[in-house]
Amino acid sequence: MRPPADHVLVVGMMGTGKSTAGQIVAARLGRLFVDTDAEVERSTGRSVADLLSSLGEPAFRAEESVALGRALDARPGAVVAVAGGAVLDPANRSLLRQSGTVVWLRARSETILDRVGDAADRVLLQPDPAEAVPRLVAERRRLYEELADAVVDVDGLSPSEVAARVLAVVVRRVRVGVPGRSYEVAVGPGARHELASVIPGRARRAVVVTQDGVGVDVDPGIDTVHVVVGDGERDKSLATVERVCRELARTGVTRHDVVVAVGGGVVTDVAGFVASCYHRGLDLVNVSTTLLGQVDAAIGGKTGVNLPEGKNLVGAFWQPVAVLCDTDALVTLPEREWRSGFGEMAKYAFLGVEDLDRLPLSAAVERCVAAKAAVVADDEREGARRVLLNYGHTLAHALEAAGFADGDEPTPGVHATMRHGEAVGAGLVFAALLARRLGRIDDARVRRHVELVESYGLSTALPAGVDRDELVVLMGRDKKATDGLTFVLDGPDGVEAVPGVERAAVVASLAEHAALAGRAATVVDGETRR
Ligand SMILES: NC(=O)c1ccc[n+]([C@@H]2O[C@H](COP(=O)([O-])OP(=O)(O)OC[C@H]3O[C@@H](n4cnc5c(N)ncnc54)[C@H](O)[C@@H]3O)[C@@H](O)[C@H]2O)c1
Repeated sequence: MRPPADHVLVVGMMGTGKSTAGQIVAARLGRLFVDTDAEVERSTGRSVADLLSSLGEPAFRAEESVALGRALDARPGAVVAVAGGAVLDPANRSLLRQSGTVVWLRARSETILDRVGDAADRVLLQPDPAEAVPRLVAERRRLYEELADAVVDVDGLSPSEVAARVLAVVVRRVRVGVPGRSYEVAVGPGARHELASVIPGRARRAVVVTQDGVGVDVDPGIDTVHVVVGDGERDKSLATVERVCRELARTGVTRHDVVVAVGGGVVTDVAGFVASCYHRGLDLVNVSTTLLGQVDAAIGGKTGVNLPEGKNLVGAFWQPVAVLCDTDALVTLPEREWRSGFGEMAKYAFLGVEDLDRLPLSAAVERCVAAKAAVVADDEREGARRVLLNYGHTLAHALEAAGFADGDEPTPGVHATMRHGEAVGAGLVFAALLARRLGRIDDARVRRHVELVESYGLSTALPAGVDRDELVVLMGRDKKATDGLTFVLDGPDGVEAVPGVERAAVVASLAEHAALAGRAATVVDGETRR
């Protein structure tokens, strides 16, 4: 499974500074820089001017499309200066749209003419650049406009000023409108570099809480105390909270300081809970470094720790003052953590995020954050609406309670443990099978669930060794279950909580789900055939 593309694509007319500014942006983000003109020249061994005058524009454009495809295949995400005319080809435009964040460097014709000089080597501007430049600008303006996620006006700016603006606009922004405590989530490459600017002015000291394995450097811009917490669900505990609080007390941290959580859901849950209760409440900034954290755990203000009796049993609602979701911090994530994040992400495809699996990474994270923000703003404390975020989770929680949770000892030869998002992936497919059995959705909608979950490299099946009767009992104990078995299910009016589901329907859907094991199955015509 490969993470979705997430390039920074700089487009615009010749002379707008795409290459110079692009190289500065790449250096700042620690990314590879690619210039599609240079790619064409490297692969053909000839200059762009030579190719254009000898082959003519159509044949040159074909070479250019090949070079663009090759450039976008570069891994990890690159900063790509896209040749000015590449946007003329609709196939190139759709490729660019799917490949990352497109920034248009926009300039007036006078600026371009000024910068290209006599334009002797610019074949497309001959014989009269003063006529050609405004004509090309007019021809291409609409295409750039339609394509770009963001625009930077470059007239009068130096390359480093252009680069600074590109870095600012490639970070997308979502407001979480919780009444009285609203805050912004910044999503995109390099978002963590905004940390100093979101630290509350009154803070004298930042307490950076992280784990050894995270390895994401941050600079709060003020005096900083570092606290390292352990990895995994066992360390998401009251003992860890006590240890962190005592460390803060020893170092003299006060209510006016700020906690900065740098990590995945374990770190943001623990650090968030510390922030909620140390000195009766400190400001909190989340720098989320896992996909699951970025689309879910770091947003919405739920914090807490586990007890030996169960997960997340002690906690508080405590909203952060800002959240930074740096998609570049995800490059070091192990494969399994990507998969777990995708499982949590997949639910949003059924909560209003269209074409989720076709979006480049930062756009996908942004849309999921926006979907969660809309629910949280409406229902901070988990009344009716917030329960929708539990789509796919009833089975997932039952699996976790049945000993399949990560951190449990796997039973040798019987079952493997699942990361939370892996369990949610299976839970989404189960919810779809149950919804179909209840006549709420059709085969095509079930297929969409299966295909989406598979597209993220997740198993759709119930794990081997599962005791289905035990799962039914555990699902009956779900927090939502106020009226018999309650599930969050898809239906004609979208996803909603459905109380009073017949046990027989649940048992039959579990049996159908179990038959998907090994995934040599296709889901057709209301039943599962192998
Ligand atoms: N508060 C909420 O609303 C909410 C929502 C969903 C989940 N959660 C909680 O989140 C937790 C799961 O979070 P998670 O999936 O992020 O797992 P995690 O926090 O355990 O992180 C997974 C692993 O990745 C490592 N890691 C983190 N960032 C990394 C990086 N950039 N590069 C390499 N390794 C990195 C961590 O050290 C850890 O080993 C669970 O405890 C769950 O209960 C909370």
